[in-house]
Amino acid sequence: MSTQRKIILAGNWKMHKTVKESIELAQCVEEKLSKLPITVLLFPPFTAIYAVSKSLKWHIGIGGQNMYYEKEGAFTGEISPVMLKEAGAEYVIIGHSERRNIFNEKDQLLNKKVHSAIENALNVVLCVGEKLEERKSNRTKEVIEREIKEDLQGIKKQDLEKIIIAYEPIWAIGTGITAKPEEVAEVHRFIRTLLDDMFGKGAGSNMTILYGGSIKPNNIKSLADMNEIDGGLVGGASLQCESFYTIGKILSEVKA
Ligand code: 13P
Repeated sequence: MSTQRKIILAGNWKMHKTVKESIELAQCVEEKLSKLPITVLLFPPFTAIYAVSKSLKWHIGIGGQNMYYEKEGAFTGEISPVMLKEAGAEYVIIGHSERRNIFNEKDQLLNKKVHSAIENALNVVLCVGEKLEERKSNRTKEVIEREIKEDLQGIKKQDLEKIIIAYEPIWAIGTGITAKPEEVAEVHRFIRTLLDDMFGKGAGSNMTILYGGSIKPNNIKSLADMNEIDGGLVGGASLQCESFYTIGKILSEVKA
């Protein structure tokens, strides 16, 4: 495996946790996961980012679950990259399937967000993934290709080190159905080939690519066993310290 790839465990808390609950969970995560040889990222709701980042001593990367691409302005309800950074975020998730599907965010908009995040020195976790009907009609690669090509359009090769890709098949998110490790590995390989085509050889093998979708303590091992999978973006199981820790422990044991 290339040295530029990192082993990452990320917790996307979605619309869960008050400020108080966020601090408690983040501190427990810090205490239990700080000894593991992996990078840990937490994505609390916007309202808790500042408090969580202030409450941590050990370095856990904190991120926003979304952002708008402008620095400031009349955009009611939106949060800018400058605001995220000032609140203590170093990362931002862009293109989560819940943003794409519930809030109708399109690739053209997501591309602007990726550019803006990088210009404002935030690391990006770019989510891609197909719907069930797209997988059933053999269109997985077509969807992934469109998302990767359009979302990363105009990005410079040297900026790829600020990007992590998370492959999250939509049918596996919050459903309890995990994609088969071999299926995930195949898509990760495809993403690496695409990146090589777009940015030149080596771009793909250097990219950290996470899997997301119903990761639990009892299925992380078989996913982590795949060389192609560099870690996980966890939703439900990241809301409890114990299950997140167990996932992190197994991931580190497999990848160590
Ligand atoms: P679940 O782990 O709850 O399926 O969520 C995955 C996800 O969407 C992480 O961003």
